[in-house]
Amino acid sequence: MKPGVLVKYRDSLPIAPGTPTFTLGEGDTPLVRCDRLAAKVGCGELYLKLEGCNPTGSFKDRGMVVAVAKAVEAGSQGIMCASTGNTSASAAAYAAYCGLTAIIIVPGGRITPGKLAQAVIYGARVVAIDGNFDQALKIVKALTQSHPVTLVNSLNPHRIEGQKTAAFEIIDALGDAPDYLFIPVGNAGNITAYWKGFTEYYQQGRSRGRPRMMGFQAEGAAPIVRGHPVKEPETVASAIRIGNPASWQSATAARDESGGIIDMVSDDEILSAQKLMARESGIFGEPASATPLAGLIKLSGQGMDFSAKKVVCVITGNGLKDTDIALKDAPPFLELPADVEAVERALGWK
Ligand code: F0G
Repeated sequence: MKPGVLVKYRDSLPIAPGTPTFTLGEGDTPLVRCDRLAAKVGCGELYLKLEGCNPTGSFKDRGMVVAVAKAVEAGSQGIMCASTGNTSASAAAYAAYCGLTAIIIVPGGRITPGKLAQAVIYGARVVAIDGNFDQALKIVKALTQSHPVTLVNSLNPHRIEGQKTAAFEIIDALGDAPDYLFIPVGNAGNITAYWKGFTEYYQQGRSRGRPRMMGFQAEGAAPIVRGHPVKEPETVASAIRIGNPASWQSATAARDESGGIIDMVSDDEILSAQKLMARESGIFGEPASATPLAGLIKLSGQGMDFSAKKVVCVITGNGLKDTDIALKDAPPFLELPADVEAVERALGWK
């Protein structure tokens, strides 16, 4: 049995005697070395951190287990979040495990069926608003201030605490920090969490340095890159369709303290990176998760030299959450009778 984030990282988390320590098996995700992909993108060593291997298929579970444990400890009856899909799936699962109510506010018609199915099957109360993620978050902030339910968006500091453990795992796996960490940026909690994790391990002498933090937004939803909120964010990467990130300041602090960048990539770049990752390394991430690889390809194409560098890309969510995108431009399949010879002929073997 996996110990889970609460037990494994007890000493680095806000665990009190009254904090329940349960797990759905989150954390301890694979860090996969991808040499063929590295060669394609001009990178010395390239590793993908497969956060889609968490119990609900995204990195959110690391932070959610801490946030929900603290909510239970505080005697909360319910949790609430706004979401582009993954936070709500995770919140619904951990609430179900603990017997709490989960109320989730999502942009109507804009979250993938896979993610919505998760929230529904875990028994969350789903409210679809006629608005985007930023408006949903505003509603959640207002309601959690006036009602006895716990906000579990990444504004909740316990979420950040849990999510920082992914940085610990990367250092433990590599024996030191990588040179660069490429990561998607939406509401900007995760880049904040990784930087906190890398900094804590560094201060404890567990790594010799810290990586440059390379955050990537989608072109149509790139408020940090543009320097102002985006009123109507739009991108194929629905998970990061966010126009006014809650953790804006801490994301730019991570960028600046690490000597990194926050840049953007187009939807076409995201989708071709998603395909390349799948075909060259057998890893299927949802579109938002391909954003860091798209960013690496972009910078490498602009002449930045990664040939002697160790690079980690965070693959934040499982590709199965958004199969519509993967199938959208797929070539037609061969359709044949159930006949050995017909298949053999069609394959050019006869
Ligand atoms: N990748 C995926 C798959 C996500 O679901 C998210 C955020 C991000 C990246 C960006 O992380 O917000 O910490 O900068 N999803 C949130 C949600 C907003 O509601 O599921 P971030």
